[in-house]
Amino acid sequence: MASKINIFLTGATGHIGGSVLARLLNHPNFSSFELNVLVRSTDKAKKLRTLRVKVTLGSYDEKLEILAEAASHADIVISMADADNLPASTAILDGMKIKHAASGKAPILIHTSGTGIIVDDARGLHGDHREFSDLESEVLNAIPVTALHRNVDIPIIEADKAGYINAYIITPGTVFGYPSGPLVDLGIQNIPSIQMRYLIKPCIARKQGAYFGKGLNLWSAVDVDDTADLYLILFDAILRDPESAGHGTEGYYFVENFQYSALEVAQAISEGLVEQGIMTTPEISPFTLEEGEKYFGTFWPLLGANSKVKADRSRALGWAPKRDKEDLIANLKSGVAFYLKGY
Ligand SMILES: NC(=O)c1ccc[n+]([C@@H]2O[C@H](COP(=O)([O-])OP(=O)(O)OC[C@H]3O[C@@H](n4cnc5c(N)ncnc54)[C@H](OP(=O)(O)O)[C@@H]3O)[C@@H](O)[C@H]2O)c1
Repeated sequence: MASKINIFLTGATGHIGGSVLARLLNHPNFSSFELNVLVRSTDKAKKLRTLRVKVTLGSYDEKLEILAEAASHADIVISMADADNLPASTAILDGMKIKHAASGKAPILIHTSGTGIIVDDARGLHGDHREFSDLESEVLNAIPVTALHRNVDIPIIEADKAGYINAYIITPGTVFGYPSGPLVDLGIQNIPSIQMRYLIKPCIARKQGAYFGKGLNLWSAVDVDDTADLYLILFDAILRDPESAGHGTEGYYFVENFQYSALEVAQAISEGLVEQGIMTTPEISPFTLEEGEKYFGTFWPLLGANSKVKADRSRALGWAPKRDKEDLIANLKSGVAFYLKGY
């Protein structure tokens, strides 16, 4: 009997990761996979085991040798836990190097980064920053290590160049939507994405939708199911032939379907607050600098930045995202009710 394909997933209880795992569990070739999921809670581990997956108890914060060990057995690693944790990513690469040495074949890394790599410093004052295509490899590879997520992305690309892994970097804009599937049913998947949390919760706290500067900055966005579909389309392409999809220096895959402005977000949140009886009319106003620091710390300029991308490489794989700006607006409004329930 042919041995199974060992797939190690991190962040698989997350907003994005849970939707990716749900699709792998439903994959026509599921019986040929051995899924190994990193999880840091024993309760989630117990529930995950009911889905016929192996669980590795561990985290990105300590005992990184556990991560390296799991990665050293994997044919494919899908990392979706933290785009900025260099020690954890290094441990995964160390493990994959061992796998390469033992098998003579480059294992696959599908890593999750974010379009924070190309943000400007508009502070809400304009939306004029250029749009980046994921096909502009030379431009993207020149982004300095000081840019968001590049501290992790660069060593991954270097490992691909060194030849001991094939690296594919999925790079979403703002992800929104409500995931569904077995992990949601078990109550172990994060329902809102990190980025929606950042957008909605501070506005609930100040009881009004808000933006930075003039709110003119633009971000690319994409629904969570569309995002998870891209992981699987890429995964299937790689299974057929790892060289059929760009990797390493040609390996950024942006994930977007449209752009929204900070003003549109603030307006939708205020409308959600009106629907919940928190406001009477849907006014919006700028965050003060004090509020920026209170709610977002030193990261507040990110909320006023432009992050405009085109997912040309992703679409060339046949990926066709469906949900649009109307879905985002509806999601922001219902997100207010969701967070008011105490999530
Ligand atoms: N959501 C977006 O809009 C967006 C956009 C661009 C990029 N990204 C990137 O995509 C990744 C996933 O985003 P998400 O929205 O799915 O996040 P999320 O819902 O917060 O999920 C994060 C996942 O990673 C796990 N995790 C977090 N910290 C960990 C640690 N220290 N050790 C082990 N596991 C850890 C969480 O496990 P628990 O269940 O134990 O919490 C969860 O499974 C992040 O790197 C994020 O920066 C997200």
